[in-house]
Amino acid sequence: MPFALAFALLAAQPVTPDPQEVPAAQGDFSGVDWEKEFGVEKKVADPVTGEFPVEPYQQGPANAGAGPFTGESMARAFGGQDGIHRIVDRLVVLSESDPRISAIFKSRDLVRLRRTLFEQFCFILNAGCIYSGREMQAAHKDLGITRADLNALVENLQQAMREGQVPFAAQNRFLAKLAPMDRQVVER
Ligand code: HEM
Repeated sequence: MPFALAFALLAAQPVTPDPQEVPAAQGDFSGVDWEKEFGVEKKVADPVTGEFPVEPYQQGPANAGAGPFTGESMARAFGGQDGIHRIVDRLVVLSESDPRISAIFKSRDLVRLRRTLFEQFCFILNAGCIYSGREMQAAHKDLGITRADLNALVENLQQAMREGQVPFAAQNRFLAKLAPMDRQVVER
C-alpha cells in the first residue's frame, strides 16, 4: 500500500523543530500575546486621569440628552456639586454590585463613567457644569440594555438620591427629565 508506506517513511524522518513553533506545538500558550496575534489594539489608560480612550466624537450640550433646569433650586436640592458627586458615586457603586445589572458594568471604564455621569447630572441640574461625554445612544450601543435593567438602575438612583436627602419632589422632577432618554438607552 503506497500511501501507508509513504506515511511510515515520513513518520521515521527526524524532525528539527522550529523553535518559534515549539510552545504552541506542545500546548504551552503562556508566552503568546493573543492581542498581537489577533491584531487587537491594546487600550492604555491615561496615566493622569486613569481613563481609557474612546472613539472620537463631537462634543456638545445636546449630547446630555436633556436641557438644564432654570434657576438654582434643583442644584440646591441635590446639595450642589458635592452632593451630585456623592449621588453619582453611590449610583455607580450600587449598580456595579447589583446582581441584576452588574454584568453590564464589568470591564467598563468606570472612571470615565463617574466623571461623565457627574457632568451630565450637574449640567441638567444647572449646577454649573459642561457635559463633555457622548450622546446617550452612542454611549449605550451594544450594551444590550433591557427595560428591566433600566428599572433597576432607576431604583438605584432613587436610593442614592434618598440617601443624599434630596427632597422627593426634586427627585421626581429629575427622573422626569431622564425618562425620555429610555429610547436611546434600551436596546431590547
Ligand atoms: C436614562 C438613563 C441613563 C443615563 C442618563 C445614562 C448616562 C450615561 C452616561 C452619561 C454615560 C457616559 C457617556 C460617555 O462615556 O461618554 C453612560 C455610560 C454607560 N452607561 Fe448609562 N445611562 C443610563 C442608563 C443606563 C443603564 C440602564 C445601564 C445599565 C443597566 C447603563 C450602563 C452604562 C454603562 C455600562 C456605560 C459605560 C459604557 C462604556 O464604557 O462604553 N446606563 N451612561
